[in-house]
Amino acid sequence: MDDLKSKYLTLIAEAGDEATLEDIRITAVGKKGEVALKMRELGKMTPEERQVAGPALNALKDEINSALAAKKAALADAALDERLRSEWLDVTLPTRPQRQGTIHPISQVSEEVTAIFAEMGFSVAEGPRIDTDWYNFDALNIPGHHPARAEMDTFYMHRAEGDNRPPHVLRTHTSPVQIRSMEASGAPTRIICPGGVYRADYDQTHTPMFHQVEGLAIDKDISMANLKWVLEEFVKSYFEVDGVDLRFRASHFPFTEPSAEVDIRCSWEGGTLKVGEGDDWLEILGSGMVHPKVLQAGGIDPNEWQGFAFGMGIDRIAMLKYGIPDLRAFFDSDLRWLRHYGFAALDVPTLHGGLSR
Ligand code: PHE
Repeated sequence: MDDLKSKYLTLIAEAGDEATLEDIRITAVGKKGEVALKMRELGKMTPEERQVAGPALNALKDEINSALAAKKAALADAALDERLRSEWLDVTLPTRPQRQGTIHPISQVSEEVTAIFAEMGFSVAEGPRIDTDWYNFDALNIPGHHPARAEMDTFYMHRAEGDNRPPHVLRTHTSPVQIRSMEASGAPTRIICPGGVYRADYDQTHTPMFHQVEGLAIDKDISMANLKWVLEEFVKSYFEVDGVDLRFRASHFPFTEPSAEVDIRCSWEGGTLKVGEGDDWLEILGSGMVHPKVLQAGGIDPNEWQGFAFGMGIDRIAMLKYGIPDLRAFFDSDLRWLRHYGFAALDVPTLHGGLSR
């Protein structure tokens, strides 16, 4: 009996898988197994012998059965461990940057700008990129022969002979959305409109297509002071600093009166563009109090309402924040540039979570 015990306990300990274990079970404690055969021998024994051998055989059977069960559990554990090791997946890992597209800095900055103005109560408005010359010019107090039309280097859509639809242009600024949103929702209103605009121009800080964000706030007693505060708050949030020097320059736009252009202090030293230091200024936006004729064109009574508007260059402020010296690179689709300057798809900018990471 001792031989049987040590033989089977060794076999069980050495078994490498469940099938081997099942074979051992059958030959040891199965119906026709070795222990069963021994049980049969009990009949030929004297009662005294039987009294000793019976319980001993039962104990042997129990011991083999529990060794089998323990080994079975150990094998199952090992199999599970092996699966956990080989099928392991770290869901906290970021996606693989090499194979993954990135968010273009223009998209990222548009989101950042939207998050900041949303916090100040501005909602997002939209308008078409191909618009009539009425929305792009006339409604904004730029009549037919106004020099501003020439200054804007406008792309005109082709018109076939006899086509009597109004002339269309690629919008030269986001300001036509001022008119469209006045028409759509009247006063009071607070909107921004980020989007692409077009002008025939090309150098380090100009491309034929670029991006602006228009801002418009109309109410009973909005003033230039509100405009200045909103822009200063915006710049602080956007550049994530307490103070950036802004320069308000008296200027002229047909659609605002008075008007101001705003420059931001920067340096171009060593070919890198840095914001907030140096002796250079980069113009980032035009602004002013909405001209009464513009309110009228949008169907709003200028005797009752007034407001400010601004148009800011998204590409410009993206260059400044992320140190990108040449605007043209934004539109080259160079994958190496996009990998370097792009943003991870899951980093959605919010004021609370952080605008840029
Ligand atoms: N539309 C002007 C431009 O593109 C900017 C601007 C917008 C100025 C709103 C004043 C008010 O240059």
